[in-house]
Amino acid sequence: MKKHNIVLVGGGSTWTPGILKAMTTHLEQFSLNKVILYDINKERQEVIGKFAQILFSEEAPDVEVIYTTDKEVAFKDIDFVFCQIRTGGFDMRDRDEKIPLELGVIGQETCGPGGFAYGLRSIKDMVELVRDVRENNPDAWILNYTNPAAIVALALDKVFPEEKRILNICDQPVNLLRSYAKLIDYDVDKLEPVYFGLNHFGWFTNIYDKQGKDRVPELKQKILAGGFNPVDAEQRSQSWLDTYAMVKDMLEDFPEYLPNTYLQYYLYPDYKLSKLDPEWTRTDEVRNEREQKIFEECNRIIENGTAKDSKVVHNDAHGDMMVEVAASIANNWKQTFVVMVRNNGIVSNLPSDSMVEVHASLGANGPQPYAVGEIGTFYKGLIENQHAFEKLTVEAYLEQSYTKALQALTLNRTIVDAKKARKVLDALIEANKGYWPPLY
Ligand code: NAD
Ligand code: G6P
Ligand code: MN
Repeated sequence: MKKHNIVLVGGGSTWTPGILKAMTTHLEQFSLNKVILYDINKERQEVIGKFAQILFSEEAPDVEVIYTTDKEVAFKDIDFVFCQIRTGGFDMRDRDEKIPLELGVIGQETCGPGGFAYGLRSIKDMVELVRDVRENNPDAWILNYTNPAAIVALALDKVFPEEKRILNICDQPVNLLRSYAKLIDYDVDKLEPVYFGLNHFGWFTNIYDKQGKDRVPELKQKILAGGFNPVDAEQRSQSWLDTYAMVKDMLEDFPEYLPNTYLQYYLYPDYKLSKLDPEWTRTDEVRNEREQKIFEECNRIIENGTAKDSKVVHNDAHGDMMVEVAASIANNWKQTFVVMVRNNGIVSNLPSDSMVEVHASLGANGPQPYAVGEIGTFYKGLIENQHAFEKLTVEAYLEQSYTKALQALTLNRTIVDAKKARKVLDALIEANKGYWPPLY
């Protein structure tokens, strides 16, 4: 089996320890020669980098592990790029969430104006990253998790239309699948999902078990009767528990399919707004919980010189999925994953240039999506509106167009009113100086 060279971009991310751990537990499926961690933040990179060297020296001593802030070192002889960066860091995520909330609209990392603001920051870095990687690695696979993944995916598709080896992925469908599997007490690896939509904007229509039985009816019944919890509920913050609980509300109103949790912001903006606190948003929670925990734990491991007793770097869905996606490509296993691809008729009554999120078989030739066919009017209406928002966001960036930015925000279901959209846009322009291109 070929041994791969991989680079983790955003090597100082809070998710990196979990991915590294997943790499050490999947060596038989995805064998490694060299792991490079690359980040622009030297301090963060050093902590996670030292942790990585300790982890691998104990679990996979044959694998070379280096960390760097030098692109020249990072992007050489690479087979796979795993990418998860946050342009502007948590300081700017804080602004994405709080500025809209102060103006009376939803503030969230990937949805509504927060996702719009983050999108305009991420596009620049992601385009640059693809160019940097491609300089010396024409065939490397670029697996991207960077949010807002919907907007990043659309922008990369527009800027690099001939690219066949960039794959944008989100772990939420698999997080949900794991939670459904627990609810029906079934092995998640034996469930085959049927899914359609855009990223953070989709639905499971069917979930087949090994015998070919669709388990969605039973799942709906269970959720309607007893509510819904994430599989890893004990590790989740209150806001995530609240998010999962909203699935029941969505099913009560729209009982046809199982919704992605992110749809709550678009379907119930007034209610969600009443529950969000502009003084304390998800950024505060992450900084106090995940970020603090990860860096404290990595520092402790560095001090002790061993990762053997570590609790933090457990095998979460995120790390597992990232490595399993790479393994399915590397070994041409053609396993099913829910991923983002250019529509091109997969959902026959949606625009062909939209980046849909659908179930696909994933092998050496990349994702081969399954046909979805026509979708119902309600879903088509919602998705076309959201796609128009995403497309105008990308065009606003590429054309530096204020008008398109205003059109995008006006279309977004979390805003609707154009005067409100203008206020939010002007405040976000001010906050994002130096990150966004100027809009005219
Ligand atoms: P984080 O801030 O802890 O980590 C991001 C890291 O990226 C930081 O260390 C930062 O210095 C680095 N970085 C920023 N710009 C960079 C650049 N241009 N090049 C290299 N490194 C750069 O954030 P986090 O909470 O760990 O999340 C990381 C990213 O992963 C976010 O975009 C988040 O939304 C995304 N994410 C996506 C999914 C998904 O399902 N698609 C799941 C989890 C996380
Ligand atoms: C889910 C989403 C991701 C998001 C992640 C973490 O997995 O699919 O897109 O980045 O949650 O969100 P958090 O608010 O915990 O940083
Ligand atoms: Mn996601």
